Amino acid sequence: MLTEQRGFRQVEIILKNRLIMSDPVMKKIFEIVHRDEPDHFLPHQRWLERQGRATARWNERMADWCIHKVLMLYKLPALFLDTGRARMARWPDEAETSAAPSPSSDPAALLPSPRT
Ligand SMILES: [Fe+2]
Repeated sequence: MLTEQRGFRQVEIILKNRLIMSDPVMKKIFEIVHRDEPDHFLPHQRWLERQGRATARWNERMADWCIHKVLMLYKLPALFLDTGRARMARWPDEAETSAAPSPSSDPAALLPSPRT
């Protein structure tokens, strides 16, 4: 749940970014994520709150913090700065979506089902 909440906050920041929002496909993707994401954690969070239970224990918060720092400060920079790494030239599901409307007319067609 902590990861979902963190992701939701990140999407809200992204939705305020003019550069990202200037790309219609990116804009559509993040708008869909923003609309869909609360269903991933709010029912469980509200249930815990109704039961008077903690939504996260200290060790869960520490694990979430550590994982986030490792991803942001080591894993992602290492991935993007590795110039020798093979680059993906096509979307893995490009063949599946080629029969769908073009991304400019329906960006959501590039996305997997919201529940996947
Ligand atoms: Fe999610």
